[in-house]
Amino acid sequence: MKAAAVSDYRELARRRLPRFLFDYVDGGAGAEVTLRRNVTDLEAVALRQRVLRDVSSLDLRTELFGCAMAMPIVLAPIGMVGLNARRGEVQAARAAERAGVPFCLSTVSTCSVSEVARGVRQPFWFQLYMIRDRGFMRALLAEAAAHCSVLLFTVDLPVAGSRYRDVRSGLTGAPGFLGSLQRISQALARPRWAWDVGLRGRPHTLGNLTPVMGTRSMLSDYFAWIRGNFDPGVTWKDIEWVRGHWPGPLVVKGILDIEDARTAANCGADGLVVSNHGGRQLDGTPSTAQALPLIAQAVGASLTVLVDGGVRSGLDVVRMLALGAKGVLLGRAWAYALAARGEAGVAHVLELIEAEMRVALSLTGCARARQITGELLVSAARA
Ligand code: GLV
Repeated sequence: MKAAAVSDYRELARRRLPRFLFDYVDGGAGAEVTLRRNVTDLEAVALRQRVLRDVSSLDLRTELFGCAMAMPIVLAPIGMVGLNARRGEVQAARAAERAGVPFCLSTVSTCSVSEVARGVRQPFWFQLYMIRDRGFMRALLAEAAAHCSVLLFTVDLPVAGSRYRDVRSGLTGAPGFLGSLQRISQALARPRWAWDVGLRGRPHTLGNLTPVMGTRSMLSDYFAWIRGNFDPGVTWKDIEWVRGHWPGPLVVKGILDIEDARTAANCGADGLVVSNHGGRQLDGTPSTAQALPLIAQAVGASLTVLVDGGVRSGLDVVRMLALGAKGVLLGRAWAYALAARGEAGVAHVLELIEAEMRVALSLTGCARARQITGELLVSAARA
């Protein structure tokens, strides 16, 4: 199939990945109300069509936290995504580097910080989960500081959301031998993945966590390990602790409430990501498209407001910028492309998003991505 849009990559990923992996990345929490709402609320944002405004020369470039970027896009951190293709995070980081946008590596990635660092030339971004063992956290932050420029501290996962698809697929529902059997039979139904990643893409460990988790396969232990080792006792005070161990820009990821946004600004964070974790945590929350404008209005002057959730096209990126974001994290979009075609898939999806952004900028009459404001919204038009 020739992929023309992110939705095509989703279909290609569905055909390529064993069910437990596709459902892990594609699914959300509970009845998936928030997952759907992120997409439908964003799609419903109407932009003003403007004409005769010289759009012969477009400029998508921006800068976030001192990083110059070809467009206001970051590849979002995604757990276990390195299993979507052989040593997948390295492939994605390379594609991002070529496209001139930051790649953010998850704490719970397949490839470690140092493995990704060996595959690229520039610093990338790192995403942190708070793990109970603070000695290990210090070592992880020191390792990240050696290779990464920006830290996203994810705060909306003190516990994992209720994800029914993962139970049904056997990723979490059937521990031990039965679970392995269920996953192996799903892998055998996808021979190309089984050969390329299942056999030749080893080790299937959580690269950054091997000092504390050992070399156990992440597939048999992922959620059990999260339950036992993520720290649900984290509070705003821990932001200070992280600050004390991280020299660069610190971004709090997982803010959806205006009070929390104000607290993040008062804590001295450099930025925040308006996020409901792609609909994977508390089901029934507002979409990020709904939450973003109020948060950007309240704290956008004191810190850099980023957003994720429901972004499936370059048009969606422009919508998020018009709603008040300074940058947009792409999640599932790149995970699908990585599964379908590895590094080339991620590079292509970034090309598609860029081309769609160019069309959207041209037709809204806004030649510079940095100058997008709420004026682009139909709701801003005056009679
Ligand atoms: C981890 O970040 C997840 O959402 O599974």
